[in-house]
Amino acid sequence: MGNVTVTAPAKAILVGEHFVVAGCPAIALALDIRAKATAELLNEDVIEIVSKEFGIRRYGGKETRVEDPLYPVYLVVKEVLKLAGSNQGLKVVIESNIPPAAGLGSSAAVAVATASAVAKLLGLNASLEEITRTAYTGEVEIHKKPSGIDNTVSAYGGAIYFSIGKGFERLDVNFSQVRLVLADSGIQRSTGTLVARVLALKSKHSSVLDQVYAAATVLVENTRDALEREDFTAVGELMNINHGLLSAIGVSNAKLEELIYTARQAGALGAKITGAGGGGMILALCWREDAEQIAMELSKASTKVLMTSVSEKGVTLESG
Ligand code: MEV
Repeated sequence: MGNVTVTAPAKAILVGEHFVVAGCPAIALALDIRAKATAELLNEDVIEIVSKEFGIRRYGGKETRVEDPLYPVYLVVKEVLKLAGSNQGLKVVIESNIPPAAGLGSSAAVAVATASAVAKLLGLNASLEEITRTAYTGEVEIHKKPSGIDNTVSAYGGAIYFSIGKGFERLDVNFSQVRLVLADSGIQRSTGTLVARVLALKSKHSSVLDQVYAAATVLVENTRDALEREDFTAVGELMNINHGLLSAIGVSNAKLEELIYTARQAGALGAKITGAGGGGMILALCWREDAEQIAMELSKASTKVLMTSVSEKGVTLESG
């Protein structure tokens, strides 16, 4: 068998990040920005991971945990090999257009694309559920206590309503009237650290924050209803309220607020942190015809602005 190439999308959380870690629902969207994994058989007994950004790593299969950005990808490969009952040596080349550590699920997209490419290379007829589950192994290594929403939306695509333990539903929404504009704060951060900090604040001030979490749950349900009615004005308002709740749990900062208010003043329907916060990107929901102007205003305050749409396509076999 020759090479197998698979791509998987980035994601943005529309509403419910952080609250989802404690069991509340959240809604995530797959984006038109993708990561690519190409898998190839090797005659040697090694697993080789290659990335333009991080170089080449070769693993012999018995490594204990190492501090290395490619190690989680290796863990995903090992998990797929386990599923296939194989010790085959192989090489995976990663290429990604998704900004890392920015809240867009770049690690999940790489993990999903890798799991799917390796499964296909090994002739394993893996279900999307198995791809999602194997990719989650890499996510746990990187983020410590991830909800699993990132790898799920990257595998399935579209808009998903997700909660831990209850699984997810794909929402049937036509997003053609709107565009998503993302602007980078330029501040890199660790999702694992932010999640731990939020959970510590929640247990310290539980009598207050339990009510914020309850409000977040209602907010996600109302956003789901608004999406299903294609009432994007209400979706934008709920995103703004969600941002207020995220500020309450301590994951905003001055730069993120500057970008969010820039987007709102330029006419966005709603703007908020997306993902773990503390840095990374903000997400603005815009009418299609307003998106360019909003992106232009944001580019005065941000070094990287992306205009994107919801991708119906989840993990996709490109060749092989
Ligand atoms: C996910 O992109 C962001 C958080 O909700 C963590 C998680 O769900 O694993 C903060």
